[in-house]
Amino acid sequence: MKRIAVFTSGGDAPGMNACIRAVVRSAHYFGLEVYGIYRGYDGLINGSFVEMDERSVSNIIQKGGTILKSARSEEFRTKEGRKKAYDNVKKYKIEGLVAIGGNGTFTGAEIFYNEYGIPTVGAPGTIDNDLYGTDFTIGYDTAVNTALSAIDKIRDTADAHERIFFIEVMGRDTGYIAMRSAISGGAEMALMPETKTSIKEVITKLKYGTSHSKASHIIIVAEGDIPGRAQIIADKVKEQLPELDTKVTTLGHVQRGGAPTAADRVLASRLGLGAVEGLIKGKANVMAGVINRTLTYTPFHETITKKKPISKDLIRIIEVLNGRKYNNLDLEAEGE
Ligand code: F6P
Repeated sequence: MKRIAVFTSGGDAPGMNACIRAVVRSAHYFGLEVYGIYRGYDGLINGSFVEMDERSVSNIIQKGGTILKSARSEEFRTKEGRKKAYDNVKKYKIEGLVAIGGNGTFTGAEIFYNEYGIPTVGAPGTIDNDLYGTDFTIGYDTAVNTALSAIDKIRDTADAHERIFFIEVMGRDTGYIAMRSAISGGAEMALMPETKTSIKEVITKLKYGTSHSKASHIIIVAEGDIPGRAQIIADKVKEQLPELDTKVTTLGHVQRGGAPTAADRVLASRLGLGAVEGLIKGKANVMAGVINRTLTYTPFHETITKKKPISKDLIRIIEVLNGRKYNNLDLEAEGE
């Protein structure tokens, strides 16, 4: 193998730049030439390639976003689009690809590999942490810390005004950010797609809290939570408890930006090196990940199709630390 290329695709995540840096520097360390592809699969299709030397990735380890830009490509979903991508890979004599992204990125990579056999190794880059085959994804730790600093600030004003805050965090299909930011932010509840959200239970807990001198409540809602987003849940609660002062804050894309944490930079560096070494060793169609502190390679097929469950032990922490058994309460709420 003489020449490889790297790209970022899907939603950006803090630490993607650290991973690009690691791929480029590792490739040069092992005597490979390396190209960067702009805008993910769109760049592969349009031939937006640029050769990268060691210095081209100087001073980016601390930056959010991605210097290679990112996109979700519609054209790559088509056979014609993938044929154009393959023609460019041949034209530039690329013998291996490093794809930094999430579920959609690896779905595309697997199809491309099955059609054209270009070895691709993935590095998991998504704030959602929803990829099977790695304990943590690049960007997750930073996103949680960004959410946490917002939660801490909201707690101040929630406490001052004795209000109930519903704070919506990202997580299209999963509650990882919700769970970790709720535990670390001392939230009273975390509502997420992995656990059944019952409005009745939310109301019961709120009634219990307010009747036991609890001045304020913080309820974290994952955007993918089944009965609806934070505003919908807040509206349903307000219908039944109009006396409560409720507010909704949606953190949104602020969670996608910012300087990556040390944990994300280390993970990104390790996985960038791991991806390049994987290609050199002949690995293909796999994602590099870290499980129990060990570098692993998991077939794309498994990373896409298998679900990484949220630990019940972690979910339980929120219940126990807010500490009551609600079963025998004389505080029945109406609703579902
Ligand atoms: O997949 C990461 C993520 O940040 C999700 O949590 C969120 O639902 C989605 O991307 C938003 O994507 P976009 O900014 O492209 O609309």
